[in-house]
Amino acid sequence: MLARPSWAEPVEFDTARAVRAEACGVDDLTRLFPSYETPAFEGDRPRNPRGPTGLKGRGLLGRYGANFAADPLVFRRDRGRLEMIAIQRRDNQRWAIPGGMVDHGEQVSETLARELAEEALGKDASPAQVKSWEEKLGRLFQQEGVEVYRGYVDDFRNTDEAWMETSAFYLLLNPAHGNELGWDFSLIAGDDATDVRWMTVSRNELERLHANHAEIVGRAVQLLEAKQDLRVLSDGEISDPTP
Ligand code: BGC
Repeated sequence: MLARPSWAEPVEFDTARAVRAEACGVDDLTRLFPSYETPAFEGDRPRNPRGPTGLKGRGLLGRYGANFAADPLVFRRDRGRLEMIAIQRRDNQRWAIPGGMVDHGEQVSETLARELAEEALGKDASPAQVKSWEEKLGRLFQQEGVEVYRGYVDDFRNTDEAWMETSAFYLLLNPAHGNELGWDFSLIAGDDATDVRWMTVSRNELERLHANHAEIVGRAVQLLEAKQDLRVLSDGEISDPTP
């Protein structure tokens, strides 16, 4: 059985709604239950914009309505191939972008940096080192991050009243970024991951990813190709590698 996250709201809808109204200081449904999609309601209960799913209530998710995540896509070129950081999720064992939930009041760039530092870089590092990575990565995402996707995610936990939405941004790292961050690009899996690796961005690998992550990575690759004026082949090889 999966543990309920610490930030989860009460399970009973009216109590959850009252707790949230108190925390946000508003009672307006669209602000109480914000969404990147067109918000829909049944009475005062949020309704999955892409439902029905056949599941009532909030299920495994922590909040009614949209549950917001942020997904950092971190690419690098290695030996003529395009690679990205991927984690193996502990909950369903699928390989995925190392994303996570946006904490209350957090900026998306902060979530992107925090999740990356926690899930892929930091487990064995000192708290000061992790903090410094979070700050530097947060700035990098703000300055150089390219928005790839914002919206609904076809997640296995979605119900009629609770569903996942995400904001995904990509970064293309080069050795200068590594120097700036004091990071040699080695990876260590954090607590929510059973494994982490630089994954070749090939069609085979993408087909096996969690939820709609293949589609998100596919969009990111298209944006990157246009921006960097290169082509990524189906096996992950870059057809116009620059040294
Ligand atoms: C993950 C994100 C993912 C979202 C929707 C979250 O648990 O951390 O990477 O996009 O779920 O599946």
